[in-house]
Amino acid sequence: MQIKVLAISGSSREGSFNTRLLEAAISAARAQGVEVSEVIITQLDLRTLALPLYDGDLEAASGLPEGAIVLKNALAAHHAVLIASPEYNGFFSPLLKNAIDWASRPQAGQPSPFVGKVGALLAASQGALGGIRGLPSVRQLLSNLGVLVIPGQMALPSAQKAFDTAGGLLDPAQQQMLERVVIELLNTARALQVTKG
Ligand SMILES: Cc1cc2nc3c(=O)[nH]c(=O)nc-3n(C[C@H](O)[C@H](O)[C@H](O)COP(=O)(O)O)c2cc1C
Repeated sequence: MQIKVLAISGSSREGSFNTRLLEAAISAARAQGVEVSEVIITQLDLRTLALPLYDGDLEAASGLPEGAIVLKNALAAHHAVLIASPEYNGFFSPLLKNAIDWASRPQAGQPSPFVGKVGALLAASQGALGGIRGLPSVRQLLSNLGVLVIPGQMALPSAQKAFDTAGGLLDPAQQQMLERVVIELLNTARALQVTKG
């Protein structure tokens, strides 16, 4: 059974630790595919969507921006979403919030691209808590939109010292934790597909 995962970083910063953690998770997920084609992962850079700050007047005047439609279509085309987000003062990034808000806006005749999806959350920070304080708010937001967010998650502290030159995690325990989250995401997405028939 093919599982398609949309991978999104809440930071578009060059050298972003969250993007690096996301990419380590993508490698771990690809390694889980028994066949190369079993796990398909698409990485989406939120900056490429060029979304304006959500504005109801703009939406009323011109509908959804192209970037919102791109994100909605990408979500609709995947079974699962893997998100790594920085923590800003205890919350997740405004870049991610804005993108999700735009994608949550309905379009006539189209189902929500969030409902029935499986989600997994990651965070990375140079700080000692690894950005974990930002994850409950992402979890709540996605749950409100109908995403089944798996219980397993990972926050990577001291992220500036955590990666090897190949992009993996230096600490085997952290690498294992990341793999566990990825496996839980893929297993849950598979189980949901089986239930849906
Ligand atoms: C406005 C702002 C608030 C921040 N608040 C926190 C915080 O509460 N906890 C934390 O661990 N790091 C905090 N940071 C640091 C970021 O998590 C850190 O810069 C991280 O590397 C950003 O993610 P990135 O590397 O993926 O871009 C904050 C950074 C900014 C710009």
